[in-house]
Amino acid sequence: MGKIIYMDNAATSWPKPEETMKAMAEYFHSIGASPGRSGHRMSLDAGRVVLDARESVSELFGVKNLLRVVFTKNATEALNIAIAGLLKPGDHVITSGMEHNSVMRPLRLMEKRGVELSIIPCIKKNTRAIYLTHASNVTGTIMPIAETGKIAREKGVIFCVDAAQTAGAIPIDVEKMSIDILAFTGHKSLFGPQGTGGLYMAEELEKGICPIMTGGTGSRSESEEHPDFLPDRYEAGTANVIGIAGLNAGIRFIRSVGIEAIREKESELTAILVKGLKSIPEVTLYGCDDAKKQTAVVSFNIAGMDCSEVDRVCSAPLPLTTPSEPFQRERCGSVWDTSLKRTTFKPFSSPWRNLFKGDQNMMDTKTCLVLLFDSTSEALLAEKLFKGAGISHKIIPVPRHLSSDCGVCIRFSAPDKERVCEALDGRVGIRDICPID
Ligand SMILES: Cc1ncc(COP(=O)(O)O)c(C=O)c1O
Repeated sequence: MGKIIYMDNAATSWPKPEETMKAMAEYFHSIGASPGRSGHRMSLDAGRVVLDARESVSELFGVKNLLRVVFTKNATEALNIAIAGLLKPGDHVITSGMEHNSVMRPLRLMEKRGVELSIIPCIKKNTRAIYLTHASNVTGTIMPIAETGKIAREKGVIFCVDAAQTAGAIPIDVEKMSIDILAFTGHKSLFGPQGTGGLYMAEELEKGICPIMTGGTGSRSESEEHPDFLPDRYEAGTANVIGIAGLNAGIRFIRSVGIEAIREKESELTAILVKGLKSIPEVTLYGCDDAKKQTAVVSFNIAGMDCSEVDRVCSAPLPLTTPSEPFQRERCGSVWDTSLKRTTFKPFSSPWRNLFKGDQNMMDTKTCLVLLFDSTSEALLAEKLFKGAGISHKIIPVPRHLSSDCGVCIRFSAPDKERVCEALDGRVGIRDICPID
């Protein structure tokens, strides 16, 4: 494999620092046990690994009491605690139009349960909380966190920040920014592995936030009631200690380099990319057009090219990976959607033909077949089954306009529909079968 230019860091950072991998290997080699479950040396050492990581997180975010840092499996779980655990029917909440689905979906669910939701800022008598992303995962635009926090504090409204895109990339201080709840993920700019993340909540707030999961904690085991103290209140089940060890090493790496230095470097690279893209007439850029006001996320469209084509061209013949973030069906207000319609829908007379535009192998084939699936897991299971059945096929990105929830589809250049269905053996549901001639 050639040199990879990985540009999908908004989804998950890669590569990780050596320190992250070393810490994870070390934990497995010499500790391995679970924290808080026993009194033997290995269990205590595992507990120390977790405590050290809590300390690193609290130092990074200006949290005074490290026990107020709760580990979760990702930002999504942290946000679900902060949303489903806090809100009650009759509450009013405010959010922005730039939120990730990890905020919007739990909020929409709460709306169905009687919570009133406003996408525009209008604090009312019953406003309980403001949920705001620190930076958009699509345009990278940084939101006015400290300013919003000040207003929320003055009005006595709980302020919850989704720092999935910024933790480790932009300095965060929960005290100075008046943040009551901070949700973060470990696998992006904190350089930890997937399966890590966490939540900070201000003093006393836990009294009004129900855990979304209860179970074993290794503490107060004689009681059938879940502990009400932090962090155990929100940490049911055995912790992902190996992941937390990696996360801690990732944070230490950030501190050794300096978060300001990281920010400066990323801003510099963003400015270079934005300048270069701006010089290409076919490219439309989205966002605030100022590297100082955005993270290192850059979104753009290329006129006349479907985003999946750009993805495919960049990741197939070239040793390059494109960011999938701008091409995903994530919310970015109406700007992203309309722009996509404007630049990608119009030129296509036949979307299916366009899928294979420029792909000589496919265009030479008189007939081919494409299968669409509801999820990537189903597509990958289908791929496995086709491999097992010796059916030649290729997995490719789905063009956005085909409105599949799944990012990939499977195409066959010499299809035998019956054999294809037989290979699936009813184990995978096909969303759509599209013959092309
Ligand atoms: C702004 C934002 N919030 C939340 C999330 C969810 O993070 P995780 O996948 O770690 O749960 C993401 C992930 O892409 C994100 O970008």
